[in-house]
Amino acid sequence: MSTHLKGNLTVVGLGPGPDEWVTPAALDAVTKAQDLLGYIPYLNRIPNREEQTKHASDNREEITRANDALALAASGRRVVVVSGGDPGVFAMATAVCEAIDHGPGVWRDIDIRIEPGVTAMLAAAARVGAPLGHDFAVISLSDILKPWAVIEKRLRLTSEADLAIALYNPASRTRKEQIQRAFDVMKESRGHNTPVVLAKSVGRKEETLSVTTLGETNIAQIDMRTLVIVGSSATRVIARGDQLPLVYTERFVKET
Ligand SMILES: C[S@@+](CC[C@H](N)C(=O)[O-])C[C@H]1O[C@@H](n2cnc3c(N)ncnc32)[C@H](O)[C@@H]1O
Repeated sequence: MSTHLKGNLTVVGLGPGPDEWVTPAALDAVTKAQDLLGYIPYLNRIPNREEQTKHASDNREEITRANDALALAASGRRVVVVSGGDPGVFAMATAVCEAIDHGPGVWRDIDIRIEPGVTAMLAAAARVGAPLGHDFAVISLSDILKPWAVIEKRLRLTSEADLAIALYNPASRTRKEQIQRAFDVMKESRGHNTPVVLAKSVGRKEETLSVTTLGETNIAQIDMRTLVIVGSSATRVIARGDQLPLVYTERFVKET
């Protein structure tokens, strides 16, 4: 028989930056929370309220954070875990599900909600047009949770399948060489003129956007705040004088 637990846990996506990209549902959950847990910079985006407790932690502590959040919810608290972007895209919703899967049975009775957010690739795509308007793949280049050999295989196969590709976590302070390797792998099956979008800190005051090609991308520009979109053979660039070009992926795909 299931135990009725009074607490609840909502995993909220705060979007990639600006407040106007936070959904009203996410804001409502944040406002009603008694406890807020998250990576320090995400929690800093939420104003302090006397009646709420913030529990900040480092970005490598996802499972501990998820366990702590579930324990608080099981004790009867209204708990919110915050993520940047969407909580289900390389973020906390998965860690919470893993913690429930492997945790005490009573956690399965907690009222769990996931509030979606604008994920970085959609914000980046919207800034330049519609590069992800048709079939595309999404790959994180972080090898903390999966071996690099798996990442390379996924890059190779999605490149061969001629999908547009959104790359998350393309680099970090300590991990800089893999984005070069990723470009080398994609070049094996894609032309050097394939359009590439580099979107850094989208939606924030330090946002920068550039449209380049697979052959000409300056890898040094890419850091942990960058979202990279690599087009398919159907991705086109429309030059517009002084304005940033429009980038889109055609709707019609030829038989191969
Ligand atoms: C751990 S993932 C989190 C993704 C997040 N859950 C989402 O849905 O956007 C972090 C990566 O997302 C991308 N990212 C997040 N916010 C961004 C922004 N404002 N501009 C560009 N890329 C961003 C970067 O590639 C960064 O390395």
